[in-house]
Amino acid sequence: MTLTAPDPTVEGAARVAVPRTWLMCRPEHFTVEYRINPWMHPEHPTDTSRALAQWQRLHDLYVELGHDVRLIDPEPGLPDMVYAANGGFTIDGIAYAPRFAHPERAGEAPAYSRWFADNGFRLVEAAETNEGEGDFLLVGDTILAGTGFRSSNSSHEEVGRVFDREVVSLELVDPRFYHLDTALAVLDPVTPAVGAPNIAYLPGAFDDRSRAELERRYPDAVLVSDEDAVWLGLNCISDGYNVVIAERATGFEASLRERGYNPIGVDLSELLLGGGGVKCCTLELRY
Ligand code: ARG
Repeated sequence: MTLTAPDPTVEGAARVAVPRTWLMCRPEHFTVEYRINPWMHPEHPTDTSRALAQWQRLHDLYVELGHDVRLIDPEPGLPDMVYAANGGFTIDGIAYAPRFAHPERAGEAPAYSRWFADNGFRLVEAAETNEGEGDFLLVGDTILAGTGFRSSNSSHEEVGRVFDREVVSLELVDPRFYHLDTALAVLDPVTPAVGAPNIAYLPGAFDDRSRAELERRYPDAVLVSDEDAVWLGLNCISDGYNVVIAERATGFEASLRERGYNPIGVDLSELLLGGGGVKCCTLELRY
């Protein structure tokens, strides 16, 4: 792991790490006991202590990188609660509550909603099915919104009304990449210091219309291969300079380095058994 300053000889040397605030949930009750995405195999054993150790390293890395990490208490009987990204979507001190597509995760919504209300957010309940930052990603001032598997099209309209932001609907077509955050990553935070924010994505995860829209809006995007995406490489967290990614996504790692980012590989193989990676475990809190 390298935590060094940017190399001034490479493209994008001016990249700056911007401190962020994230919410995480210890995988104390993590296991795979139902199947709501193709990664999950309840017939295969999971190792909760291994999940805890891998998660702890991710948590400690964020702290070491200077970020503020808040915690929500895990609840028994909610094994997917570790995937905090699905717990909501926040901008400007407003938290839009999730409404899960599958009944197995429905109990997480009140837990996360309570946390937001107790921690200084104005909570907006959702009428429409949506899985929070799993399907809503803020790029600059625009919300990219995924649909096709979990969050509904009507939730895209709802999130646009709640935050009064432009929403771009993107249709996901590959069941392995069922949340937008498994198919697309935001590389730059919202700050004028870094200029126009850029993204990375797996072209094959989107229908033709959505792919054309992404090409038009983000001509400099990093295009990621299937080989990197299958480790949930795109399910990463960037602070504008450091990009925490699945260590097995080596092609993506090289592209990031070429562009002046500092990729840092982590092993979340146990949490991959539930169909989640780095980003799934991390919800951005924008106060
Ligand atoms: N087992 C969880 C589910 O299928 C994984 C959620 C992953 N989260 C994410 N933000 N992609 O709902």
